[in-house]
Amino acid sequence: MIGDKKVLFSGMQATGNLTLGNYLGALKNWVNICDEYECFYSVVDMHSITVRQDAATLRKRSRELLTLYIAAGLDPEKNCIYYQSHVSAHAELSWILNCYTYMGELNRMTQFKDKSAKNADNINSGLFTYPVLMAADILLYQADVVPVGIDQMQHLELARDIATRFNGIYGDVFTVPEIYMGKVGRKIMSLQNPDKKMSKSDENPNGSIYLMDDTDTIIRKFKRAVTDSDNQIRYSEDKPGIKNLIDIYCATTGKSSEEVEKEFDGKGYGDFKLAVGEVVAQCLKPIQDRQKELLNDKAYVDGVIKNNAEKASYFATKTLRKVQKKVGFPERIR
Ligand code: TRP
Repeated sequence: MIGDKKVLFSGMQATGNLTLGNYLGALKNWVNICDEYECFYSVVDMHSITVRQDAATLRKRSRELLTLYIAAGLDPEKNCIYYQSHVSAHAELSWILNCYTYMGELNRMTQFKDKSAKNADNINSGLFTYPVLMAADILLYQADVVPVGIDQMQHLELARDIATRFNGIYGDVFTVPEIYMGKVGRKIMSLQNPDKKMSKSDENPNGSIYLMDDTDTIIRKFKRAVTDSDNQIRYSEDKPGIKNLIDIYCATTGKSSEEVEKEFDGKGYGDFKLAVGEVVAQCLKPIQDRQKELLNDKAYVDGVIKNNAEKASYFATKTLRKVQKKVGFPERIR
């Protein structure tokens, strides 16, 4: 708790082009719930270098992501929006927690197995201990809730295990975080292959709506979306393409699938695809415009970066000092 509010922590990596899936699945939920919690939203650049990155590109994308958080509606006066690498406590706690995490636990992580298969020439130990850094992120702020997608669930379970283990030895040091699943919990699928998740790394750019796509591109991609041939707008598992478009329409407008079925009763796929494209483009346009303004307003954004890194450091260091004392590090002389 900070004041009378529960603490929320989440983070995103600035690698690849963010998609509509990232926005509807994560960022939009963050904006919806941020008033209820004391929130920390990190751009987790330290996680990004577990896979080789071009330095200039990583730096540029990190700033784009940080400004996107703000443009999407997270007020940086109320939410702590910061770069993970600016708060050294992440690295320090991560080292300590490494010593309380078993190789066997990390070996079971499916994301490690997937990523090492994809990066066979660079299976570095950072990739292996990535979930420990993630646990440090969360535990440093004594987070009560952590909104994450299903693919991060196993990492969050591990963070809970590490916290519980540490508390078992040293008393109540860490809050054991709860997993927060979005209310709608919709998973946005590829427009070209509705059996596959919409992904930053899709080889076919028509499958994903990128958050930076302009209106024409968005509408064109929706027009080309793969559907079935019966031309009925019905929400059903056996119509994965249309189901995905309805999900996107619902998540964007806040309508229910029944309302959408009614709204488009008797209309064809062409009309519906155009309508989805239009609502999505309308939803993204103000975010894109605001982000552009922010990217041009260096002084303001630099101020946000500095102030929030200080705020994050304050809370993180409090936890870190407690932990250092518990494990037996000598007291600092001041
Ligand atoms: N690993 C997460 C991802 O790739 C990002 C992340 C890092 C994160 N630290 C976190 C998410 C802490 C939630 C909490 O999506």
